Amino acid sequence: MTRLTRRSFVSTLVGTAGLAAVDPVLVLAKTADGFFDLTAKQSAIHLVGKDGPSSTLWAYNNTSPGPQIRVRQGERVRVRFHNNLTEATSIHWHGIRIDNAMDGVSGLTQEPVQPGDSFDYDFVVPDAGTYWYHAHNKSWNQVARGLYGSLIVEEPAEVFDRDHDLTLVLDDWRLQQDGTFDTASLGSMMDWSHGGRVGNWPTTNGERLPNFVLRTGEAYRLRLINAANARIFEIDPNRFNARILAWDGQAVPLPHKLPYQPLLLGPAQRVDLLVIPKKPGEFALEEISGPKPWPTAVFRVIAGNSGTAQETPILPVNSLPDPDLDKSITVPLKMTGGAMRRMGPTTYKGQPLDGENYQRTRQFWAFNGVANLGEDPLFRAQIGQTMQVEISNATAFPHAMHVHGHHFRVVARDGNKINDGSPWRDTVMVGAEQSVTIAFVADNPGKWLLHCHMLEHAAAGMNTWFEVA
Ligand code: C2O
Ligand code: CU
Repeated sequence: MTRLTRRSFVSTLVGTAGLAAVDPVLVLAKTADGFFDLTAKQSAIHLVGKDGPSSTLWAYNNTSPGPQIRVRQGERVRVRFHNNLTEATSIHWHGIRIDNAMDGVSGLTQEPVQPGDSFDYDFVVPDAGTYWYHAHNKSWNQVARGLYGSLIVEEPAEVFDRDHDLTLVLDDWRLQQDGTFDTASLGSMMDWSHGGRVGNWPTTNGERLPNFVLRTGEAYRLRLINAANARIFEIDPNRFNARILAWDGQAVPLPHKLPYQPLLLGPAQRVDLLVIPKKPGEFALEEISGPKPWPTAVFRVIAGNSGTAQETPILPVNSLPDPDLDKSITVPLKMTGGAMRRMGPTTYKGQPLDGENYQRTRQFWAFNGVANLGEDPLFRAQIGQTMQVEISNATAFPHAMHVHGHHFRVVARDGNKINDGSPWRDTVMVGAEQSVTIAFVADNPGKWLLHCHMLEHAAAGMNTWFEVA
């Protein structure tokens, strides 16, 4: 696998959290009428430890990550969402093969929820796995400020109990010298035209370095979610003998070792890891892209009760329709623009872009010569049609391409076919100057986004849509 280039981590990391044995994730309880109550509002949150300065963030129910929503596969999820922010917003349920009307995309699937208003989300979750929710109106601003949380869909029969099921929501914040959130640089033209807003303060579940206690011989599921605007986390699960359980929520048939390294966890991507510690001691989940790896979470291993190692737990695989490549329709998607490359002839809102218009409209990227959502979709598909999207990246940056409402398989990389059933994904990394072909059955009616999940790139043009009828 080719290593992707990206900006290196700029700041020194200071301070470590004390040793706590708790899973810091707060699970949301239902109200009497079966709704989860979720309120977005401005909140004072400590990002650099409880004694450090507090930042003015936007958060769901006063915490970032927001409270975890846990439901069972096939269950109906009802969320009563209240917007107590000063700007309009909506919630997207990332990775859920959802009813279009509930997809939460402001301006495409719903009107944005205005300040003071509420909106009831009501949908069924067809697949078990690790998902997340986040704001989907000016996401580059709202997600950067803290509007996201995890959404866990449990298997019909429990595979890991709560003590062995750990969620790690990764983010990186851009802080100022005084340790508070850097608001002034939101929307920076430099970020929009380069690698997106990359931070200098990584957190896991909102803490710089949470500690987890594990027991030898017991099997743990670590659910990693990258909630950062633009940072790619590079990790090596082989360093602590972890096996892959699932990608982007979808379980693999058998847990397996990663046959390459590093694992690139791009923005919005998830990976579930299986860890069965053998010896007491300590290990860390490290980000390894730079010359000096740095930890994002620490695991302290103590002696377990059972002398014998547990059998390998296996997750049931969700049933998704397999693409039929022989009867497929192929659509090219050429990504252009960004710093150090030419954008080529580009239209935005039906008008050609030139000269000062790039800066004025803040459009620096395009798909097939169109910046942002055009009148016409990338394609219209009949329901049940297998679509292949040939994504070619003619830019100098990697991108995290996300399809709404569907999961897909990668069927080719750089022109080489992949026949051995690559995993289901909802977001795929496409390296600079690389190409990736994805295939999926367009089986979910409605209007769906396809965009780069580096949120500044999406805002600056890397955003299109398709329709399934
Ligand atoms: Cu995670 Cu368009 O979203
Ligand atoms: Cu991008």
